[in-house]
Amino acid sequence: MKRSVNVFAPATVANVVCGYDVLGFAVNAPGDEVIMRIKDEPGVKITKISGDEGRLPYDPAKNTVSLSVQHYLNHIGRNDVGVEIELYKKMPIGSGLGSSSASTVAGLFAINTLMDSPLTRMDLVPFAMKGEEMACGYGHADNVAPALLGGFVLVRSYDPLDIIQLPYPEELYCSIVFPQIDVPTRDARQIIRTKVPLKDAVVQWGNVAGLVSGLYTKDIDLIARSMKDVIVEPVRSILIPDFYRLREIALENGALTFGISGSGPSVFTFTRNAEDASRINKKLQEHFLWLDTESIAYQSPINANGPIILD
Ligand code: HSE
Repeated sequence: MKRSVNVFAPATVANVVCGYDVLGFAVNAPGDEVIMRIKDEPGVKITKISGDEGRLPYDPAKNTVSLSVQHYLNHIGRNDVGVEIELYKKMPIGSGLGSSSASTVAGLFAINTLMDSPLTRMDLVPFAMKGEEMACGYGHADNVAPALLGGFVLVRSYDPLDIIQLPYPEELYCSIVFPQIDVPTRDARQIIRTKVPLKDAVVQWGNVAGLVSGLYTKDIDLIARSMKDVIVEPVRSILIPDFYRLREIALENGALTFGISGSGPSVFTFTRNAEDASRINKKLQEHFLWLDTESIAYQSPINANGPIILD
């Protein structure tokens, strides 16, 4: 049995424009790392956090990593186990890229590995959702499920939980720009309308079905024309400066689609290759600079692996 493990878990793009709380995919970078060590004394401790600018709590009951690890140990009946956790944040907090999810998933994958993997990755999803519940008030699964399983994921139902792994065209490439403005997920969830007119619902479920259908048939044009959101994006776009101009710039430069990543403020596009992704990121970053906003860009194919062991 291993006494120590180092795990990387990936960032994720949740919602994928039309699938609020039900669709998400993982990317290769950025992501977070956790080093976990077995200790003789029972209990879950956080001993180090780096890269968070002092924003994350060390209190094991308040940190999403330790909290979900504790839930996991309770579930498998191993409260006799003691672990020390080092969390290396390698991605921005409050970016809309599933930052808390990446940390939580890295922690859960680490403890499950140290316990000789009694649970499957799918079994770990509800424990990771506990972390999301603490981070933003609702245990949504559209970040944690793709971070754990890799690839593209549909949360078909929350009660009972029913998660479906979707196929996708391998050539699909993703570009992401994070403008450095803070949009806490909790706040971005509170501004959404809770009642939806039937005519908007009709448009939305047509698009969700179109997107899923396009993923199965690997029809990139269908994927692109289905990624439209008439419910959440019109409200959340106000949190991102010049959102509609940014969309024009992305589309003028060859993006297949453009939208908000998770709860924002990161924006993302799908492209057919790395060259398009890199050109679009450059143009979007130039526009953010013109708006006096610093930004960070990432580009990646869809990540098929989810968490990986680094040592
Ligand atoms: N589905 C969640 C939301 C993702 O949009 O609030 C949070 O990143």
